[in-house]
Amino acid sequence: MTHQQPLERCAIVTGAAGGIGAAVALELISRGARVMVADIDSQALERFADDHADLAGSFRCAVVDVASTEDWQRLADEARSAFGPIGILVNNAAISPKRDGAKVPADQMGRAEWDAVLAVNLTGPFIGVQTVFPDMRDAGWGRIVNMSSQAARTGARVAGVHYGVTKTGLLGLTRTLAHEFGPYGITVNAVAPGRIMTPMAAGVPEEVNRQWAAQIPVGRLGQPEDTAAVVGFLASEEAGFVTGATIDANGGSYMG
Ligand SMILES: NC(=O)c1ccc[n+]([C@@H]2O[C@H](COP(=O)([O-])OP(=O)(O)OC[C@H]3O[C@@H](n4cnc5c(N)ncnc54)[C@H](O)[C@@H]3O)[C@@H](O)[C@H]2O)c1
Repeated sequence: MTHQQPLERCAIVTGAAGGIGAAVALELISRGARVMVADIDSQALERFADDHADLAGSFRCAVVDVASTEDWQRLADEARSAFGPIGILVNNAAISPKRDGAKVPADQMGRAEWDAVLAVNLTGPFIGVQTVFPDMRDAGWGRIVNMSSQAARTGARVAGVHYGVTKTGLLGLTRTLAHEFGPYGITVNAVAPGRIMTPMAAGVPEEVNRQWAAQIPVGRLGQPEDTAAVVGFLASEEAGFVTGATIDANGGSYMG
């Protein structure tokens, strides 16, 4: 058996300008994929493009709001004309609004904030899946990876109820789509990272992250590359028998 066959596919990674998404984009490129680096933050995308100019032929940046159906359509069209049919989708973009570095208690949460988090974290991935499905169905091959969270396993402690609900919802989306899409050669999986050092995790006081690290069996917080390695495997040719799964990547802080 050949290990790690080259992943000569077109991939979309959302929220890929920084944090975990950027590491995922680089992991997929290292495996041979051509990647649409999609993000709402145009300045962060410019930084990504500058930092990785040596890989220029392997990715393209696109300013996209994952909550917008029109943006998804534009992104998919651009992906197809740049790199061919879409074979891999990593739904990674998410928001986790805080107030003064702390979660907003459920009883004080406004409807607008609830709606915004649902739109980006849960509806966005659903629209994304609908957008790329025809390419994967026609090819008889596809890999969809939804970025959930340990919050879906334990309930959200640091993040708000809206965030926890969306990350749990992604597990339902993952399992149901695994049933529907399996017959087309499309796998659908979720990754549930623990605490990973990214701008999102840096949004809380340092003490919170220190306490978190003290409870992790491997003795440290995660790095974006720890998550990206798991996504890379799930997106690979070799992972075709893994579907509907949630892979916990958390240093042992939650063991299902
Ligand atoms: N960092 C952690 O500790 C942690 C833990 C568990 C799960 N996660 C999940 O991992 C994923 C990445 O998290 P991160 O820590 O890298 O976060 P991050 O905030 O560093 O990165 C998220 C990216 O998503 C982009 N984004 C936000 N709204 C968007 C929208 N509407 N459309 C397109 N892009 C948008 C942001 O601009 C940003 O580049 C998220 O799904 C998050 O919930 C993170």
